[in-house]
Amino acid sequence: MKVIVYMTLTANGYFPVAGAGQTLPKEVLADFVGLVATTRYLIVGRRTYEGIGSMGPARALLERVPVVVVTRAAAPVPGALTVPSPQAALDLFYEQGHTTALVAGGAEVDGPFLSAGLFDELRLNIHPAIGGVGRPVPIADGVFTSLELRSTPRLIGEHTVQLEYAAMRS
Ligand SMILES: NC(=O)c1ccc[n+]([C@@H]2O[C@H](COP(=O)([O-])OP(=O)(O)OC[C@H]3O[C@@H](n4cnc5c(N)ncnc54)[C@H](OP(=O)(O)O)[C@@H]3O)[C@@H](O)[C@H]2O)c1
Repeated sequence: MKVIVYMTLTANGYFPVAGAGQTLPKEVLADFVGLVATTRYLIVGRRTYEGIGSMGPARALLERVPVVVVTRAAAPVPGALTVPSPQAALDLFYEQGHTTALVAGGAEVDGPFLSAGLFDELRLNIHPAIGGVGRPVPIADGVFTSLELRSTPRLIGEHTVQLEYAAMRS
């Protein structure tokens, strides 16, 4: 069983957000959708889930894959399972016996997974832009997790670099 965190950051380490003129290249979206199709267990924050509707053709695929939405709200989220915390999303993943979980944002949900070491692999895309809109991924004070580059950096489209890291366990 493996947990992959998938995220795209600007060259200055910010998490680009939808609706701020920071559209991700279609090749990045295609890469993400391909990974969703193979992992088949997607964990996202409530705000990211609400934005999936703007992903065009990607939405059709995402609708066929179990999506687990992390939310503190008690109300159900149409089309998805809801869990009250990142740990609960993983508990359900292990309980259901899936092979791979894909954690795909946003920043508020990725932060706890990375801070608590609840991941095996980080797929990081470097968005070819400098941006002061958005935010860095919030990591808890005092956390420092070394990463090991797993393979040669890969070019997605013309200008986006993808880095595949494994979390180093002490
Ligand atoms: N660049 C990328 O790789 C990437 C990837 C995905 C999304 N995005 C963008 O990121 C933006 C959304 O990110 P975001 O950080 O604002 O929001 P988010 O992480 O998608 O969702 C935040 C919501 O998740 C729930 N949540 C977060 N932490 C929780 C915890 N520890 N326990 C329980 N619930 C928790 C809360 O939902 P409730 O308020 O319902 O309690 C919170 O309001 C969008 O613009 C999206 O397009 C970018």
